[in-house]
Amino acid sequence: MQKTTAQLLENPQLLQLESDKLLKRFSSSLKTLAKQSFPAFQSRLQQVLPKLLQLYLTLYGNQYDCYYQLEQLLKLLAKSSAQRPDYLQQQDLQQEQQHWHQSAQALGAACYVDLFADNFEGLANRIPYLQQTGINYLHLMPLFKAPVPNSDGGYAVSDYRDTMPELGTMPQLALLMQQLHQQGIKPVLDFVFNHTSDEHRWAKLAKAGNAEYRDYYFFLTEQERDQFAPCLREIFPEIRRGCFTQDPDSKCWIWTTFNSFQWDLNYANPQVFNAMAEEMLFLSNQGAAVLRLDALAFVWKEAGTGCENLPKAHLLIQAFNAVARIAAPALQFKSEAIVHPDEVVKYIAPGECQLSYNPLLMALLWNSLATRKTRLLSESLRRRFEIDPHCSWVNYIRCHDDIGWTFDDEVARQLGINPDHHRQFLNQFYTGQFPGSFAKGVPFQQNPVTGDCRVAGMLASLAGVEQAQLEGHALHLQHALARIYLLNSVILSIGGLPLLYMGDELGLLNDYSYQEDPVKKDDSRWVNRVKLDSQQLLAAQSKTSSSGQIYQQLQHLITTRASLPETGSGTTRILTSDNPHLFSYQRELAGKTLLCLVNFSEQPQLCQQLPAGLWVDQLTGQHYQGSVVQLSAYQVLWLRR
Ligand code: GLC
Ligand code: GLC
Repeated sequence: MQKTTAQLLENPQLLQLESDKLLKRFSSSLKTLAKQSFPAFQSRLQQVLPKLLQLYLTLYGNQYDCYYQLEQLLKLLAKSSAQRPDYLQQQDLQQEQQHWHQSAQALGAACYVDLFADNFEGLANRIPYLQQTGINYLHLMPLFKAPVPNSDGGYAVSDYRDTMPELGTMPQLALLMQQLHQQGIKPVLDFVFNHTSDEHRWAKLAKAGNAEYRDYYFFLTEQERDQFAPCLREIFPEIRRGCFTQDPDSKCWIWTTFNSFQWDLNYANPQVFNAMAEEMLFLSNQGAAVLRLDALAFVWKEAGTGCENLPKAHLLIQAFNAVARIAAPALQFKSEAIVHPDEVVKYIAPGECQLSYNPLLMALLWNSLATRKTRLLSESLRRRFEIDPHCSWVNYIRCHDDIGWTFDDEVARQLGINPDHHRQFLNQFYTGQFPGSFAKGVPFQQNPVTGDCRVAGMLASLAGVEQAQLEGHALHLQHALARIYLLNSVILSIGGLPLLYMGDELGLLNDYSYQEDPVKKDDSRWVNRVKLDSQQLLAAQSKTSSSGQIYQQLQHLITTRASLPETGSGTTRILTSDNPHLFSYQRELAGKTLLCLVNFSEQPQLCQQLPAGLWVDQLTGQHYQGSVVQLSAYQVLWLRR
């Protein structure tokens, strides 16, 4: 007798039987499609199908054509498995390699291809520079075909299978990614799956009135829109109020969380899931080792909710993960959830995203530099640093976006900090308006109603280099460089994959030229998307410039870290410091301990609780003994017994 969806979902045995039945039914057609890859494909399918079926039924069991859509999905998995290049199939077999991100040598970087190297060919020529820096994971920022001139920095994708012509072609990109693999660098691409651009083929068909493709998006009546609108957060309030854009022809309201030319996809439609799964596997088969799941918090919508971080968003991502396990097992996901810390961690699991940005660490490192205090940092991380041992944080200081102050208000209040006032202070501080501030950042997206605001800027400008150079103040410059060293030291030792934002390794400053560009002037994040030329890369070796100093100090941290296995795999313990200006944590691995002490102030500070033993600072070789240690301005110690 036919079982209902509810019965299947309740009973794992029934689910297994159903999955076996499906396998038998489709086996011969899948075999034809998967070609030589069939044996490996089939064995993975057998393993993962019960999970995929469970997720698919939970998401789409209420659709009349759920099983038909599932069949289509399985066929595309088989097809894509057949198309997977040999070198990637080899990687699929090396399951023991899947924890590469937990090595003390693992080091990531992100760059825009055009800003870093003009085009794909130029990027291939920069591989030696990447290797010299120690980079083995490279996120190539969105490079897909996108509307001209404005595409939200590439995050409005018009075709996932085509590139911006000035960068090169898709086959050239595939070649570049293979080359990167050969040179030991894992290529990372964006999976911009919450929305497409309004120039995507699907969007054009929808605009022309094609009913099938209108269902790929949200075309809402005013009444329907109003069931959602009141609960939604505005992401780009300076550019446009609300989250909807009116279609001039049909007068319908199209869901556009970000810019009006970025149309949110409707994942309640299984056809959208299948179509995007196909695009995802295409990107993986071009060579992407990791996909960065862009704006993943927004992918599922339900009336009466904020439409962020909904339970079904997680199920949807798990379903994409199951798809990857079957058809591209070496592929891993990185979560881009820049949301409340309690929500950020929910995306991190071997069956969901193996990697995740760590926005809490990012925001609170900046916070501690502004306040010279570490309580909020320590207390917040104590609660929200631990994740599944098979997964890794991606620890970063800056990226192509703004800095949002996404700490937990509750933790702040417990420490006597008023979260709203404190965020205002941080915005004032990092835009250089607070008296005594060292930072030169730019406000991003001031919300006229909530007063909310974020900050944009390059690492060096936010850390004080720009201002110190304007003042010609040697001590201020020294402090600014020490802040950069400090920040780098933490992301390199606290546990997780450190991610550099290209340009920051050389301390490049803000680029204000966006203000004269009519297309960019309303998006201040362009201040921290700067061009690197070969002259600037040469500065890496200079003994006298700030760039050279920043780069060489970073190199010192990177090579020291590489020799300390406990900075790679191992566990982190955030310690309680007896001095409010010090941040301390330790990494532990197989009985070995690395104790890290960081002074967040420009005054010397005492740590009076050094545990007994003879300690050697791995960064300087200096010895410490006795319970009291003095740290100089912004000093960092990596101590081992
Ligand atoms: C992500 C990107 C950001 C983009 C947004 C919309 O947050 O990092 O740059 O504006 O998604 O795609
Ligand atoms: C992201 C975040 C938001 C961020 C923005 C890009 O998805 O949720 O905080 O600032 O998009 O600017």
